[in-house]
Amino acid sequence: MAFKYENVVPWGRNFDEYRRMFDLQPADLSKRIIGCGDGPASFNTIANQRGGHVTSVDPIYVLTKAEIEKRIEETYQTVISQTEQNQEKFRWDQIRSVAELGQIRMEAMRVFLASYDAGKANNVYIPGTLPVLPFQDDTFELALCSHFLFLYSDHLSSIFHVEAIQEMLRIAQEVRIFPLLDVNAQRSIHLDSVLTAFQDKSLEIRKVDYEFQIGGNEVLIVKNR
Ligand SMILES: C[S@@+](CC[C@H](N)C(=O)[O-])C[C@H]1O[C@@H](n2cnc3c(N)ncnc32)[C@H](O)[C@@H]1O
Repeated sequence: MAFKYENVVPWGRNFDEYRRMFDLQPADLSKRIIGCGDGPASFNTIANQRGGHVTSVDPIYVLTKAEIEKRIEETYQTVISQTEQNQEKFRWDQIRSVAELGQIRMEAMRVFLASYDAGKANNVYIPGTLPVLPFQDDTFELALCSHFLFLYSDHLSSIFHVEAIQEMLRIAQEVRIFPLLDVNAQRSIHLDSVLTAFQDKSLEIRKVDYEFQIGGNEVLIVKNR
C-alpha cells in the first residue's frame, strides 16, 4: 500500500519538530525567518511568543480561520487512515501510535488556529504561493520549507523545485528543506536535479536529530555564497 494524496494537504507540525528537523540553534532562532508552506504548523506562533522574528507564507492564508479549520477536519481522516495503512514507513519510538500522532498534530494545529487572526493582523501569516513570493530581495536571513518540497515529488516537477529554491534564495540568504524523502519514504526523484542546479552555491546535506519517516533524518541547506 502506498500513500496517495490528491493534493498537498494542510497538516501542521510543532515548534519542537521544526527545531529538530532544521537543526535550529539559538542563534538561528533569533534570525529573521520565513517559513515557506508553513500552513497550520505551530512553529510561527511559538517562535514569535519566545521573541523570534518568524513570518510564514502559504496559499491557505487567503482563507479565513473557519475555512482552514474545515480543511483540516476534511483532511484529518484521510491522513490518519493512510498513515495506518503505511505504518511500516515510520519510526514509532517517539510518537508511539497513529492515535498519538493525530493528537500531536491536532494540538499543533489548534495552537496555530488560536494565533491565526492576530497573526494575520500582524502580517506574520502572508498569503503566497511558491515559486513566486511577495517579498523583496534579501528580506530574510533564513528560509525554511517543511514537508512540501521533495515530499510531494509526484505532484511537483524538478523545474518547480529549482524555481522554488531560487525564489527562496532571492528573499533569504540561506534555505533549509526537510525532508529529502517523498510521501512513501523514498529519496526524492528531484534531489539530484536540485543538487546539480545549485552546484555553484554552498550545499550541505546535514543529519539531524529527527526521524519520523524511516530514513528521513537529513536536511538540505543551500546558501548564497
Ligand atoms: C503538509 S503541509 C506542511 C505544513 C508545515 N510546513 C509542516 O511541516 O507542518 C504542506 C503545506 O504546503 C502548502 N503549499 C501548497 N502549495 C504551495 C505552494 N505552491 N507554495 C507554498 N506552499 C504551498 C500547503 O498549503 C500546506 O500548508
